[in-house]
Amino acid sequence: MIAVRLETLNDFSEWRGKARQLLLAGVRPEQVAWLGPAEENGLFEAGDSMLPTGGGPVGSVPPGFIELGQLAICNSQPERWALLYRFLWRLVQDRALMNSASDPDLQRLVGMASAVRRDSHKMKAFVRFRAISDDSGLERFAAWFEPDHFVLERTAPFFERRFAGMIWAIITPYRSAFWDGEELVFGAGGRKGDVPADDAVEVDWKTYFASIFNPARLKVGAMKGEMPVKYWRNLPEAELIAPLIRGAREAEREMIERIASQPPARHLRREANATPAAELGEERQIASLEQARAAVQECRRCPLFEFATQAVFGEGPEAADVMFVGEQPGDQEDLAGQPFIGPAGKVLDAAIEKVGIDRTQVYVTNAVKHFKFEPRGKRRIHQKPNGSEVEACRFWLNLERAFVRPKVIVALGATAASSLLGKAVTISRLRGAPITMDDGTTLFVTNHPSFLLRIPERERQEEERAKFEADLVLVRDAIAQMRGGSQLTPPHS
Ligand code: URA
Repeated sequence: MIAVRLETLNDFSEWRGKARQLLLAGVRPEQVAWLGPAEENGLFEAGDSMLPTGGGPVGSVPPGFIELGQLAICNSQPERWALLYRFLWRLVQDRALMNSASDPDLQRLVGMASAVRRDSHKMKAFVRFRAISDDSGLERFAAWFEPDHFVLERTAPFFERRFAGMIWAIITPYRSAFWDGEELVFGAGGRKGDVPADDAVEVDWKTYFASIFNPARLKVGAMKGEMPVKYWRNLPEAELIAPLIRGAREAEREMIERIASQPPARHLRREANATPAAELGEERQIASLEQARAAVQECRRCPLFEFATQAVFGEGPEAADVMFVGEQPGDQEDLAGQPFIGPAGKVLDAAIEKVGIDRTQVYVTNAVKHFKFEPRGKRRIHQKPNGSEVEACRFWLNLERAFVRPKVIVALGATAASSLLGKAVTISRLRGAPITMDDGTTLFVTNHPSFLLRIPERERQEEERAKFEADLVLVRDAIAQMRGGSQLTPPHS
């Protein structure tokens, strides 16, 4: 038996280096005892230089294994290293194992990886910073968190991006992360007492928590978006929970009584047969555009709420004749809470103005209300929402349509068009002519303005811009016709 000690709990590259040496020397999985940094076991340990060497090339492993291993190694189950080695041993002989969903080793590793992902999401949701006072005059923040798995290293970059302008530390029992505004470094773990228990920031968190309070988050369970009871003891807002539940129930009863005495919105009446009963019940509880705007901040219909700063609802007059629907908020929109204020919004505003549509009379919104992105370094790179996210968010778009009741809707890009038409569409086939929707609203489909921004050649960009503006001229004329006159504002040349 060879005892192999790892210096880290969750560093996949350290484990991989040692596993590679063992594989090269043909050491079978049952001949290895993997030891973590502080484990004792009385066996003779092989230091790095003493690990067996020799044998032929290991061969390559499918990239999926690396990804799986990087997650599974963060699981706190002590057998993770041995399990990974046994699977690797088998995988180099049979690469197809990676796709064998019924393989028990693979199933266990996938289970371990999922637990790590979930724990990382929980950490993003439940870490609470508190202010630390000292004589330096610098404001610093610290948070205590007890993860189930070793997820600090893979989750800390999220906090780096979110709180880039703060100096903070996150202390966990096994490791700590420090961000000084420029560099993220990791150090030894700590104790709960290392983080101050009470200060002004706590009061802010309580206010914040009361404002975002949603009783659904308090159910005990493992579903996304819920707040498991085990986290309560570290949350300063925990003491507010009971009164908030009572308050929320009263408010809910009042709302149901009030809404029960009101007729449903026109749009909901019309679509009553097509709307699932549960959904209709939920829609009926939202009696105005303003209520919808507040309620969307509690939306947990798809996982996107977890990472976005906030939901970005539509903007514009409630009685607008025309509604523009984009895809989803971008980076700037996510931070500001307003649709189309970034680069794509500037292209849209310029085109609207140029063709002579009155921008102040336009309602602008998106098919999906939360920003979907992939972190890359310090940047957040836009990710296209998938079908189920678009489907989940159609609830909010339908509410906006019901309350604003625009005569004309403009779908900017394929995501908006497919949300509005309920099927996959091709812009080039639909643009240039009005489409009558089921409820009689006139729909125009055109490209998304960010498409223009992505065209590198100037000439083609101008061509596409002209086509985009031509589509908006059709919109302008349709509005004018519906108002019973010719166009209201002459286009700028
Ligand atoms: N792109 C969109 O589709 N919507 C916005 O709000 C911003 C960019």
